[in-house]
Amino acid sequence: MIKIGMAYYPEHWDRALWERDAARMAALGVHVVRLGEFAWGRMEPEDGRFDFGWLDEAIDVIARHGMRVILCTPTNSAPMWLYTGHPDTVQHGPDGRPIDLGIRGHRCTLSPTFRRYAARITEQMAKRYAGRRSIFAWQIDNELENDHCACQACRENFRRWLREKYGTLDALNRAWGTDVWSGQITAWEQIEPPVSKAYMPDWYDPACMLDYERFGAWRTADFVYFERDIIKAHDPSALVTTNGWFPANMPDFYQTFAPLDVAAYDNYPPMDLPEDPEALYSNAFGLDFVRGFKRQNFWILEQLGGAGGCWSPMGIAPEPGMLEGYALQAVAHGADLVSFFRWRSACSGAEMLGHGVLDHDDRDNRRLGEIGQFCRRLEALPDLDKTCLRSPVAILYGPDQEFALKNQRQSRNFAYWTQLKLFQDACMGLGVNVDVISQDAPLDGYKAVLVPTHYVTDPTLATRLEAFAAAGGTVVITNRSGVKDEHNNCVFGQPLPTAFRHLCGCRVEEYDAIGEKRVHIETAAGERFTVTGWCDVLAPEGADVWARYTEKFYAGSPAVTKNAFGAGRAYYVGAVGQRALYRTLLAEICRELAIPMLPDLPLGVEVTTRTGKSGAYTFFFNNTLRAQTFPLDGEQVVLRPMEMKIRTGDGAWV
Ligand code: GLA
Ligand code: ZN
Repeated sequence: MIKIGMAYYPEHWDRALWERDAARMAALGVHVVRLGEFAWGRMEPEDGRFDFGWLDEAIDVIARHGMRVILCTPTNSAPMWLYTGHPDTVQHGPDGRPIDLGIRGHRCTLSPTFRRYAARITEQMAKRYAGRRSIFAWQIDNELENDHCACQACRENFRRWLREKYGTLDALNRAWGTDVWSGQITAWEQIEPPVSKAYMPDWYDPACMLDYERFGAWRTADFVYFERDIIKAHDPSALVTTNGWFPANMPDFYQTFAPLDVAAYDNYPPMDLPEDPEALYSNAFGLDFVRGFKRQNFWILEQLGGAGGCWSPMGIAPEPGMLEGYALQAVAHGADLVSFFRWRSACSGAEMLGHGVLDHDDRDNRRLGEIGQFCRRLEALPDLDKTCLRSPVAILYGPDQEFALKNQRQSRNFAYWTQLKLFQDACMGLGVNVDVISQDAPLDGYKAVLVPTHYVTDPTLATRLEAFAAAGGTVVITNRSGVKDEHNNCVFGQPLPTAFRHLCGCRVEEYDAIGEKRVHIETAAGERFTVTGWCDVLAPEGADVWARYTEKFYAGSPAVTKNAFGAGRAYYVGAVGQRALYRTLLAEICRELAIPMLPDLPLGVEVTTRTGKSGAYTFFFNNTLRAQTFPLDGEQVVLRPMEMKIRTGDGAWV
């Protein structure tokens, strides 16, 4: 059975409410209640004086109502006494000064003093609660990110990390290419985090910045190991996770989730849907991405429960069908637990205008009714958690690509995330399951592997992709692949796409970072597509031309090529298109590889399939605010705005 959860803050509400809240949640269909992630101040009101009485009681109330608890470590928000007593626990901003107190998440996860206190509170909790039947799982901290803390401990750790990586300053200077601008480093102490607000990021050395991001990814993962080990020491069988999200400074999710039992994510899909048919607003990419963290079904630890207001101004109210539709969308992409945020909107604190399921008036409302409907829908499908997505297509993602491209934008209208989304959108819009996986993951079992913008080159990937294509697979490579070496320096003396040139059977003759300008490409069959952001002008070296430019000084030159490679093929897409280009390309690939697809779905209708021993379930989701109609096996399917229809393998709608 898929589990339904709810975030609850007993510390915000009068005890008299707890019993009634628990009864209402249980009646709604909630199985697990998530507690504690910001409650350190109530658990340890003074240094070393612990008070868990209230938490014991809250957990008992929840358990009495037949529900279990996801217990969070509270280390995201340390108590004021810790920060003021030990200023070295406070995160430091890019200016090297401590950031303001009175907000949350302002601890430095590497500060030795903070670690000491974090270990103690986590230990206290683990000792008391680990192994109890009422505890379903643990969440570490809250929404960890690569926070760029620039405190003394972080500065020293960055230097230590570099020293371990390079051994000598000579090796570091060579790797970073510091002869530019007299940047030679002659003592380790000269190295500072490249984060000053005044210059970020264009003035810093990209090689240094990539290492800094990698160091930050290590810092995030190290904190996860640290808390996980404490919990597991008290209950090795505890289910431990953390709630990922996609902040400006992303960690390396594969590293972060490696020590954890399940991948999890906070899912806040948009409520204000743009009219533009080209807008890639769907949250489905994020869901496929999270499923790839551990290549397994995953959890949603925070699911949209009401209008946003954290932070102000307030967002628009969810349209009817949205809360249920979006929660089902998460399930359609492999969520086995969906926990809503939050039971009731807070009456105090910065987030008071961020809406939970219930408003401040505490009455049953439309949103509660919709979540109830979601619960009923899943109760009728009790075997769903025994199914998962099997995908013929994989998209490869690399944290290094994210880090390097974030710090060195290649062109306006061209972003790594958008490239990834365009390919994911095309697959889902054809009803073809797609996995988003690490560029280091094994490729067996896939028929096509899509590699958008493999910018920081891993030459072993080129070798693996050649073997994959030789054996009959299809590979898609795009612009700005093979540009950088492992240090984020430009590859010298070889035409792009360097390591992938042989596989693609073409080279980049020259390129044009066209930014917001638009030009067009045309296939031999006369199909015309708009492209923007970037244009690679290609010279085939054995590949066939799939599409040519129709404008600028490179009118008539190849933009997209297709190369036969062993028993398979490789496409090279040299420009950044819109949705139609990717759908056309993917439809061709699916036809060539005999991957079943639904070519007639309207834009905004998303189709995925979960399969297992108990059978198959195909999810048809209308992620638009208009009714949508499409043909399916001789019938016309109609979906209301935000509606999800589910069909079993034998064609029954459930
Ligand atoms: C994040 C946090 C929550 C809350 C929500 C509001 O996901 O984890 O504590 O602030 O955002 O949308
Ligand atoms: Zn720090």
